[in-house]
Amino acid sequence: MSVTENMKSLQTGPPGQDTIPIASRDFGSWHVEISRGARTPCVMARQYDGVAENWPRTAHRFQLEAAYREALLASGAHIALAGSTARAMDCGVGSGTLSIALASILPKQIECHGIDMSREMLATANIAMKQAKLSLTLNQADILSIPYPDQFFDLVMAAHVLEHLPDPRCALSEMIRVLKPGGLLFVCMTRRSFFGALVQLRWRTWAITERQGVGWMRDCEMSNVAFQPVNLGACAGQSSLAFWAHKPG
Ligand SMILES: C[S@@+](CC[C@H](N)C(=O)[O-])C[C@H]1O[C@@H](n2cnc3c(N)ncnc32)[C@H](O)[C@@H]1O
Repeated sequence: MSVTENMKSLQTGPPGQDTIPIASRDFGSWHVEISRGARTPCVMARQYDGVAENWPRTAHRFQLEAAYREALLASGAHIALAGSTARAMDCGVGSGTLSIALASILPKQIECHGIDMSREMLATANIAMKQAKLSLTLNQADILSIPYPDQFFDLVMAAHVLEHLPDPRCALSEMIRVLKPGGLLFVCMTRRSFFGALVQLRWRTWAITERQGVGWMRDCEMSNVAFQPVNLGACAGQSSLAFWAHKPG
C-alpha cells in the first residue's frame, strides 16, 4: 500500500518488488493508493499452466470469441490484413480465442503466430487450432521479449494479457517493435468495474480506465487511437475495453 500527499509517493511494498495498482482514492490533499506485488513471469506461467485445461470453458462462459470478433471488426483488423502476405501476432494467445475470432472475419487464412509464457496454454491452443482447422505458429515466449524481428507483422494483438504486467507500456513498446509502420496494434484489457475488481483479487491485475489506456497508447506515440467497451455477456457485462491504434508510417 502507498500513501501520497501532494504527489509525494511512499511505496510500502517490499523494496525492489514490482507492484500493480489495485485501488486509489483522494481525500482532500491525500492520495491513498493500494498496490499488490506483481507475480513474476515464471509464477504467472505456472498459474496459467494450472488452469489451461479449463480455459476454453472460461472463454465460452464469457463469450470471448463473439466479443473479440466485434472489437476486431471495429478496429478494422480485416482491412489491415487485406494484403496477400499479411501476418498477425497474438501475444498471450491462451487457448487461441482471439486468433479464432480474427480468422472468422477474414476472407482467407493468413500467416498467424502466437506466443505465451504457459506451456500448457500453448498445448490447449494447439488443440483448439486443430479443431478450428486453423494453422498458428506457436512459441513459448514472454511478451516483453517477442522472438521476432523488427517490423515483421501487419497486426499485433493481445487480449487480457497486459493487465498482468507491472508496466503495460513495456509490453506495448515491444509489440510496437515487431509491428510494421502503418500496422495495427489491438489490445483488450480488464476495465475498472465491479467485475474488474473480482478479477483483480483473483489475478492481481490492473483494472484500467479509458483514459489510462488511451494515455498508454499516446505515450507509445501511436496514431489514430480509438477504443470501445467489450461485452463479456450476462456474467460480466461491459467489463473489458478494447484499444487500437496505428504505428506511424
Ligand atoms: C487471461 S489469459 C488470456 C488468454 C487469451 N488471450 C484470451 O483472451 O483468451 C492471459 C494469457 O496471457 C499469458 N501471459 C501472461 N503473462 C504473459 C507474458 N508476460 N508473456 C506472454 N504471455 C503471458 C498467460 O499465460 C495466459 O495464457
